[in-house]
Amino acid sequence: MSDEKPTTNAPTKSHGRKAIHPSFKPRELMTPTPDLVGVWKARIITLFPTAFPGVLGESLTGKALQEGLWQLETTDLRQFGVGKHRNVDDTPAGGGAGMVLRADVLGEAIEHTMAGVQGNTPLIYLSPRGRPMDQAMMQQLAHADGVTLICGRFEGVDERVIEHYGIQEVSLGDFVMTGGEIAAQALIDATVRLIPGVLGNQASTEEESFSSGLLEHPQYTRPAEWKGRAIPDVLMSGHHGKVAQWRREMSEKLTQDRRPDLWDAHQAKSGD
Ligand SMILES: C[S@@+](CC[C@H](N)C(=O)[O-])C[C@H]1O[C@@H](n2cnc3c(N)ncnc32)[C@H](O)[C@@H]1O
Repeated sequence: MSDEKPTTNAPTKSHGRKAIHPSFKPRELMTPTPDLVGVWKARIITLFPTAFPGVLGESLTGKALQEGLWQLETTDLRQFGVGKHRNVDDTPAGGGAGMVLRADVLGEAIEHTMAGVQGNTPLIYLSPRGRPMDQAMMQQLAHADGVTLICGRFEGVDERVIEHYGIQEVSLGDFVMTGGEIAAQALIDATVRLIPGVLGNQASTEEESFSSGLLEHPQYTRPAEWKGRAIPDVLMSGHHGKVAQWRREMSEKLTQDRRPDLWDAHQAKSGD
């Protein structure tokens, strides 16, 4: 396998709104949609840039992307591959199955992606051995200036890259997927919807599951009766106090039944 250096050809692609601010990156490496000042930005390093924006381009997140409430930029890892075939992976040191993303290739992609990036922009590798995603993490990320996400493939990435750049590892859950792209989209979706203006009704993020440390109460809408099942009377009573109390009780019951871990944490916090 040759280690000959490739020529990088527009490896970064932005999605969403047109440029209003010049970037610090060399012009020839940029698409014509650089940074919007002060706008939260997700940068994704991936072998599959066409997987983005994916579902993030739909509905409220898609509209917000078009309106410049958040930004998305992909870096094509393949463009940093070595040799005629732009190889990005090699066999694991010590033997074993599969392939591993090369340190030099990923390192160059990270440095290209992060060049000129300022402010609080955590660098995260989506990985099944990472810290599991939760709402508190998403709230923290939504308050940052953006995030840079590395989507692994094959058996993962060379450990030295994680150590060298102090990369945080974050997991979608205790299962193994073929790549980090779906996990990246989950993380971005859950974060971007917390950015003011992305959801029409900001109150809905304050009341939903996890915001108070509890799971959300059941929801109902029309018709008032469906297949012999009626909406609970209290919700049709028009009594706001009773509705609020019923919702709180249901929320507590559901959390106790389904997530004793959350319930214990909630109880401990309430006892502070
Ligand atoms: C086949 S997996 C590698 C699994 C790795 N050999 C292990 O056992 O931990 C390929 C890539 O998918 C992504 N991935 C797989 N499962 C994930 C999860 N639960 N959360 C986040 N990313 C995941 C990671 O980026 C990973 O590098």
